[in-house]
Amino acid sequence: MKGIVLAGGSGSRLHPVTRSVSKQLLPIYDKPMVFYPLSVLMLAGVRDVLLISTPEDLPLFRRLLGDGSDIGLTMSYAAQPEPKGLAQAFTIGADHIGHDSVCMVLGDNVFHGHGLSALLQREVAALEGCSLFGYTVRDPQRYGVVTTDESGRITGIEEKPARPRSNMAVTGLYMYDNDVVRYAAEVQPSWRDELEITDVNNRYVAEGRARLVELGRGMAWLDTGTHDSLLEAATFVQVLEHRQGEQIACLEEIAYRQGWIDRAQLAVLAEAYGRSSYGDALRRLAGGT
Ligand code: G1P
Repeated sequence: MKGIVLAGGSGSRLHPVTRSVSKQLLPIYDKPMVFYPLSVLMLAGVRDVLLISTPEDLPLFRRLLGDGSDIGLTMSYAAQPEPKGLAQAFTIGADHIGHDSVCMVLGDNVFHGHGLSALLQREVAALEGCSLFGYTVRDPQRYGVVTTDESGRITGIEEKPARPRSNMAVTGLYMYDNDVVRYAAEVQPSWRDELEITDVNNRYVAEGRARLVELGRGMAWLDTGTHDSLLEAATFVQVLEHRQGEQIACLEEIAYRQGWIDRAQLAVLAEAYGRSSYGDALRRLAGGT
């Protein structure tokens, strides 16, 4: 399975903060936002990742993440010149996906919870058609909203409905078989002139090939779209990291635990982070404490 992190968009709701820097490079507490979605792909076992962003921001992501080889990944980069919708990622990423399946995560989505890695790996192994990840929210009208029948099968998805039929939002994490490349190419622009991922998802729904995986109460799916939600996400990470002394979305740690790098490489990477708390956490891990 290939991975895509979509980190485009104008970030206009966070202006002026995002006037000169991509939203997905802003910090969530102690690390750049993009670490969080990238960590989700890594937890799912996905190592070949395409990062899509604006032509202006791509060099910054490249400087941050390089070719990924330090942490056992293959990172590549592609531009989305204009924010034309999430479904465009599969056209831009068609060569990257090749004949494979793909997991896409939005560059501003934060997921955290016990058992997330096992859940993701189960879904990767069992993928047929598409798997969508649902989360109960108080304000579903801001998202794609999914409805299901009594047996839990998806009956439809509405994008930002004024009157949502459920509280179940479709999160920014999607797994697809290879048909997504063709389906995405066939999507027509919506009323807001975007190629909607919801249209792609509804095609799988119509074919009875879309699965809903509900992320329960023990999971956190956090929003970072406004100044307040960004601050809340930072506080969430701060509280857990302080209390437990464990890092959330530490890419090097995940690479090490996945067996993609060894302890010696971990120690080398820790030094590169200098005296930061992130570096300290890596040093503790490399030292076995
Ligand atoms: C997008 C999708 C929406 C999904 C959301 C998750 O919304 O269109 O279906 O629920 O991401 O973050 P957008 O970021 O375009 O507002």
